[in-house]
Amino acid sequence: MENEKLITEYDTVALDDENNSLVIIDQTKLPGKKEILRLTDIKDIWDAIYLLKVRGAPAIGVAAAIGVYLAAKEIKTEDYEEFYKQFKEAKSYLSSSRPTAVNLFWALDRMDNIVKENKNKSISEIKQLLHNEAVAIREEDIWVCKQIGEFGLTLVKPGDGILTHCNAGQLATVKYGTATAPMYLGHERGYNFKIFADETRPLLQGARLTAYELFESGLDVTLICDNMSATVMKNGWINAIFVGCDRVAANGDAANKIGTSVVATVAKRYNIPFYVCAPTSTIDMNTKTGADIKIEQRPAEEVTEMWYKERMAPKGVKVFNPAFDVTDNDLISGIVTEYGIAKAPYTETLKEIFKRKKNY
Ligand code: MRU
Repeated sequence: MENEKLITEYDTVALDDENNSLVIIDQTKLPGKKEILRLTDIKDIWDAIYLLKVRGAPAIGVAAAIGVYLAAKEIKTEDYEEFYKQFKEAKSYLSSSRPTAVNLFWALDRMDNIVKENKNKSISEIKQLLHNEAVAIREEDIWVCKQIGEFGLTLVKPGDGILTHCNAGQLATVKYGTATAPMYLGHERGYNFKIFADETRPLLQGARLTAYELFESGLDVTLICDNMSATVMKNGWINAIFVGCDRVAANGDAANKIGTSVVATVAKRYNIPFYVCAPTSTIDMNTKTGADIKIEQRPAEEVTEMWYKERMAPKGVKVFNPAFDVTDNDLISGIVTEYGIAKAPYTETLKEIFKRKKNY
């Protein structure tokens, strides 16, 4: 019975080869209902990403890689140029689903490189290589998150209070999450962390997803409204903050769910270390600073009526609903990657992380 499994026993995002489909758990229905979606059509995959049925930077990347593979598989031609033209149409379509998380573009570019580098191969061989790449992108994410967990764990000690914002949990990745990876690994090792999860207005990823997956997994998690984070920090309950991110610029500025920079600013006031957990797939060395990161704007209804029994704002009122904000690099105590922890000055240390990646 699917419904008896824990949420972390489900695949956030997977490829079903037999049915040529992208399999996701519909995150818009959580925590009330565990509904599995099997998507074959590229339009449905685009919608699933845009509507946040699958969300979180790494999961979006994996979904897009699988999506573009499924689209490529359907291309009916043996002519390379025609194949590549149609592949690029599918790639460009999927890349328009959300603008901020660089993992989307990173994963699609990896898939694109496969097509470009194997021009001399048959179309069916290219399709097989695309399959392998999509599977590799998914599999790598597990190792990456585990590594982030190991490095993150060196920054905290048993019994610590940890605050997080949004969901950078397993539901945002393939396994472990990024910000939650140190929490899950610490839990396995008896660290007894006291986790505080911001509910994360307006889409409540913290309440619906982070509090849910940590609670079901047996971690000590307390849900707070976003405007309570200063109180728990001032009370001395928080020893460290771990958040995920959607794009880190070359200077260390980091875009993450709206409200993250508020947490970072308050953390500085109370001398609490603020760590951004970022797979290298989320670090965009081609984006110079946070000012160059495109911030997604979302529909006003997410603020005025979603989740409420009745509309909670006057009809016609102006609404500003950016999905992300940028935390300035001077508020960030460290960027935890799968190759180690970068500390300021990030312009230098992030380059160092990529050197380590190359030599790994
Ligand atoms: O709009 P969402 O839910 O996709 O935003 C997700 C976040 O901001 C996460 O913190 C980020 O993608 C990192 S996930 C490991």
